[in-house]
Amino acid sequence: MNKHSVLIAGGGSTFTPGIVLMLLDNLDKFPIKELKFYDNDAERQETIGKACAIILKEKAPDIVFSYTTEPAEAFSGIDFVMAHIRVGKYAMRELDEKIPLKYGVLGQETCGPGGIAYGMRSIGGVLELLDYMEKYSPNAWMLNYSNPAAIVAEATRKLRPNAKILNICDMPLGIEMRMAEILELESRKEMDIRYYGLNHFGWWCDIRDKAGNDLMPKLKEHVAKHGYVVQEELSSQQHCDASWLDTFAKAKDVYPLAPDTMPNTYLKYYLFPDYVVKHSNIEYTRANEVMDGREKFVFGECNKVIEQGSSADCELHTDDHAEYIVDLARAIAYNTKERMLLIVPNNGSISNFNSTAMVEIPCLVGSNGPEPLSIGEIPLFQKGMMDQQVAVEKLVVEAWIEKSYQKLWQAITLSKTVPSASVAKFILDDLIKANKDFWPELN
Ligand code: NAD
Ligand code: G6P
Ligand code: MN
Repeated sequence: MNKHSVLIAGGGSTFTPGIVLMLLDNLDKFPIKELKFYDNDAERQETIGKACAIILKEKAPDIVFSYTTEPAEAFSGIDFVMAHIRVGKYAMRELDEKIPLKYGVLGQETCGPGGIAYGMRSIGGVLELLDYMEKYSPNAWMLNYSNPAAIVAEATRKLRPNAKILNICDMPLGIEMRMAEILELESRKEMDIRYYGLNHFGWWCDIRDKAGNDLMPKLKEHVAKHGYVVQEELSSQQHCDASWLDTFAKAKDVYPLAPDTMPNTYLKYYLFPDYVVKHSNIEYTRANEVMDGREKFVFGECNKVIEQGSSADCELHTDDHAEYIVDLARAIAYNTKERMLLIVPNNGSISNFNSTAMVEIPCLVGSNGPEPLSIGEIPLFQKGMMDQQVAVEKLVVEAWIEKSYQKLWQAITLSKTVPSASVAKFILDDLIKANKDFWPELN
């Protein structure tokens, strides 16, 4: 097998050590000759970079490793960019969550006004990475999981239609791992699934075992009672904080709305926004939980590795479900035709839905990219929700391109999480002030 050169963009991310450990666990399937980190925050990246240098030296000394804030150095001579940047970092996520809450509207990383604000910051950041990649390594592929993936994907479809970028999300995989546990299967790969929707906005419509037996009845029975809560909450799993457990449990109320399907957990924000607001604390949102939890833990462990010059007592762990990133890279590198959920142009796959929408559907992935599978017609309820949400996402991208206040106001107003155009305007005006260093100036 030929060996690959990989760049992790967003080297200072809390997820970087987990991805590195996951890549190290999979070197037999996806061999690496060079690994680089790139970030625009030198100090943040240095902590992660120094610790990973020690870990790599111990576990895979043959891999050439470096980290940099110089685009030319970072993006030259690479085959894959694995991108997970957060433009504005947690400080801006906190404002995305708290500003809407001031007006009684939910504050969430990727949903509602918070997700829209984050989208307005991310578009430029991800386009910049793509342009560096095309300039310095035109044959490389970008595997992007920078959020909000729906808006970023729509922006790249529109503005860089020929770019070699694949947008992917880990939420369906996290849920499928829970489904596998409910079904007492060894792995989610024992299930053949059909799924459709937008990113963080979709439904499973068919789940079978390899013999073709329908697994939905058993799943429905469990989800109707317990949502996606499973007995063994594995501590190594990414989504294990109390707020995530509440989200998995809430799926039991989301499910009955469309009981022929199984919902993505994110639908709770659109279907039960009043519940979400009632259970939010404007003084302490998810951003605070992440800064006090995952960020402190990851940077603390990295500092420990650096001080000790060894990873002996280090508690950093692989993100179990991050394996999908290796599956995706392998699919491109070795033309495996693995079936994976990706965010791709609809182009008729969902026959009764906007053909230019970026939808999350199963695709066969090979060296030339994704071949989306055909979904056919979807029911009116799901289609109605998706029509509304895709208009929000498209309006955000148009607002960013045209620097249009009007379109961004329309986008926020149209979000199912927002009760009125006047509330939308209050939130928008606050978000504009908060994002002055990141958004284009609107007119
Ligand atoms: P983080 O803030 O810890 O890391 C993000 C890093 O990106 C920071 O080090 C920051 O300095 C860097 N960065 C910001 N703007 C940049 C730019 N323009 N160029 C280069 N680097 C830049 O955030 P995190 O919580 O670790 O999450 C990272 C990203 O991964 C977020 O976008 C998050 O939403 C996303 N994510 C996506 C999925 C998915 O399912 N698609 C899953 C988990 C996380
Ligand atoms: C899931 C989603 C990601 C999102 C993450 C947030 O994995 O698929 O898109 O970024 O959750 O997790 P956090 O722990 O940062 O709230
Ligand atoms: Mn996601």
